[in-house]
Amino acid sequence: MSTTTKGTAGYDRRRGLQAFDDTKAGVKGLVDASVTTIPPIFHHPPDSLATSSTATIPVIDLSGRRSEVVGEVRAATETVGFFQVVNHGVPADLLAEMLASVRRFHESPAEAKTPHYTRDLARKVRFNSNFDLFQSPAANWRDTLFCQALPDPPEPEELPTAVRGVLLEYGDAVRQLAVRVLELVSEAMGLAPDRLEKMGCADGLSVVSNYYPPCPQPHLTLGTSRHSDPAFLTVLLQDDMAGLQVLVDDDGEKRAVWADVPPVPGALVINVGDLLQLVSNGRLKSVEHRVVANRSRDRARISVAAFFNADLRQTTAVYGPIEEQVTSSAPPLYRSITVEEFLSHYDGKGLDGRPALDHFLLP
Ligand code: OGA
Ligand code: NI
Repeated sequence: MSTTTKGTAGYDRRRGLQAFDDTKAGVKGLVDASVTTIPPIFHHPPDSLATSSTATIPVIDLSGRRSEVVGEVRAATETVGFFQVVNHGVPADLLAEMLASVRRFHESPAEAKTPHYTRDLARKVRFNSNFDLFQSPAANWRDTLFCQALPDPPEPEELPTAVRGVLLEYGDAVRQLAVRVLELVSEAMGLAPDRLEKMGCADGLSVVSNYYPPCPQPHLTLGTSRHSDPAFLTVLLQDDMAGLQVLVDDDGEKRAVWADVPPVPGALVINVGDLLQLVSNGRLKSVEHRVVANRSRDRARISVAAFFNADLRQTTAVYGPIEEQVTSSAPPLYRSITVEEFLSHYDGKGLDGRPALDHFLLP
C-alpha cells in the first residue's frame, strides 16, 4: 500500500473512505449507529478565519419598484455575491412541502434509500454522501439527493417516492424565479433583460437536496467545505436552522471573515455562480461559502440548492466574457470554455478550497 493513501495520523484513508461508502447509509447511518466520535475521514484542519457579527447579506423585496430592485441586485451581485429574496412568487406551501419531502427521504429506512445510492454520473437521480468523497481532502457531515431536473427530467419512477410528488414541481417554480432574477441581473449589467436567459443560463437545472444531521464533534468537521458554486445562478431553500456562511471583507479590518446567512422565514437565498462571474468578466462575484457542521443535538438541517446551468447536451456551446463587458480598461479575464469543460475541472478537483475559475484565467 502506498504511503500517499495514508493520512497524517497514519490511518489508511482510502480504506476508511471505501468502508464508509460501502455502507450506502451516509452520515445519517453513522448518527443512527450512535457514534460519539467521528471517523478521521471527516477531520478538517482548523479554520483560522473569524466569524463576523456585523456583516449582513441583503434581503431584497422583489415586489418593490423595478428600478430600485435592479439597483439592489446590482449592489449585491457586485459585492457579497449573495442576497435573499422575499415576495418571490414561489408559494410558501410548496417551500414547506419541498423541505418536508427531503426530510422524509433522508429519514426513510435503508431499503428505500440504498437503491438510489450511486456515484454513476449517467444517472439523473443520485443519492450519496459527499459527491467528491474520493477527491476532496476531508469529507463533510452531509448526505445528498441529487436530481438532474432539466433540460430532460427523469421519469417519475426514477425519483424516490418520498420526493416524487413535489421535486419537479418545485424545480419548475424555482426556475420561473431564476428567469426573473436573470432578467434583473441582465439589466443590472446594462444588457437587454432577456440576454442571460437567451444565452441558456437557465436551460439546465440540478436540484440538490442536502441533509445535515447532528454531528457529535462539530468543531472537527464541516457540513460543506468552502467552495463557490459550479453554475450560473443558485437558488437555495434553507430550513430554519442557521449554518450557511459567506466569505466577506470585514471593511474595518480589511480581512476576510465568515458572515452568517440567517434563515429568513419564507425567503430564498440567491447567489452568483462561477459561470456568471466568467460571463460578466469578473464584475459579478461568485463568492465562497460553507456550511458549518450541525451543532444541534437532535435536529437535522435541510437545504435544497437549485443550480441553474446551460444545457449540457449542447456540448459545443462556449461561454466567455460577454463582449459588452469587455473594454480597454476591462480586458477579458477568462478564456471561453464549454460548461462541460468547466464541470469536469470542478468535479475532478473536489472541494479543495481553491476557486475552480482560477484555472481558466487568461495569462
Ligand atoms: C451548495 C451549498 C448551502 C447549504 O449546495 O452548494 O452551498 O446551505 N449549500 O446547504
Ligand atoms: Ni454552494
